[in-house]
Amino acid sequence: MNQEIRLRLKHLVLFVSIIGFLFFYSLSSNRGCESDASRSEYGAESWAADQGREAFLPNRKGPTIYAVTPTYSRPVQKAELTRLSHVIRLVPNVFWVIVEDASQTSTLVTNVLKRSDLQARSVQLFAKTPTNFKLKGKDPNWLKPRGVEQRNTALKWIRDRLKQAAQNNADDESTHSVVYFMDDDNTYSTELFDEISKIETGKVGVWPVGLVGGLMVEKPVLNRDGLVLGFNSAWKPERPFPLDMAGFAISSDLLLDNPQAQFSYEVERGYQESEILRHLTIAHDMQPLANQCKDVLVWHTRTETPKLDAEKALQKGGKKSNDGMEV
Ligand code: UGA
Ligand code: MN
Repeated sequence: MNQEIRLRLKHLVLFVSIIGFLFFYSLSSNRGCESDASRSEYGAESWAADQGREAFLPNRKGPTIYAVTPTYSRPVQKAELTRLSHVIRLVPNVFWVIVEDASQTSTLVTNVLKRSDLQARSVQLFAKTPTNFKLKGKDPNWLKPRGVEQRNTALKWIRDRLKQAAQNNADDESTHSVVYFMDDDNTYSTELFDEISKIETGKVGVWPVGLVGGLMVEKPVLNRDGLVLGFNSAWKPERPFPLDMAGFAISSDLLLDNPQAQFSYEVERGYQESEILRHLTIAHDMQPLANQCKDVLVWHTRTETPKLDAEKALQKGGKKSNDGMEV
């Protein structure tokens, strides 16, 4: 009998010690996780600070950057805009001006703004490209200019807003802002917006753009004093400003002082950038950014049109893979 009680006691002690061990083990490994997490968080911040890459840190201040994005309905539209919205979320001084190539705004675009929580710092406009200027089915994309109607609508909206703001706070000097044309298919580093934030009043900022114009990189060429001498472009280098739309941004005071500056259907292919810039600056006066134009922070990527043959076959039978789903 005594033996039996001793045996039970032994089992109880063993059981309690196992439970105790497991309890303390779980406590200590939890602590381990916490310290790992906080260490890596601190690590990322200090790394960013060491590198001077403030764009990776949240709550960065700077002039408002009006990012103008023309966009049109197609299967990849939501993917493109989601990608952009997540970049913009990381840069608090960007105000997103989306202009849909359509006769009304769409719920797809509204939903992108809602999901990314960008409604308070964005506006959703529309401006349909006139049919005679719109690309048709098999047209090569270079046949007609893209984004003209939409960017001009955005420029009008921005000019009106800035004039209104100037009236409301006449003595306030903090109204400096910048306009950047941010196409929906390019690839943008958050660091680019750090550079754009450096643009001074009265200046057009310039920097390299990767994968464009038949080159790995199109970039401003600087002289020894760091002034813009010209550009290295291979495609139509005779253009007054042979650079891509993604390669410059404009201090908004220039747009108010030069109300005639905008885009046009009347100009030759590849001349949209020159068309607006000719009113605003000369190469020599441009402000070189991105480490004296040695860093690439934006790429002129182009998204392949997806092949949807199976989807078309489904549709013939009155079905679709995305029934009730926004893709
Ligand atoms: C190049 C430049 O990068 C563009 O900034 C310039 O507008 C264009 O050439 C031109 O010469 O017109 P690319 O990549 O060929 O750009 O043009 P897309 O990316 O196809 O279009 C530029 C922007 O216009 C995009 O944001 C796109 O969504 C928008 N777009 C395009 C429309 O709003 N409607 C259209 O029918 C086509
Ligand atoms: Mn593009």
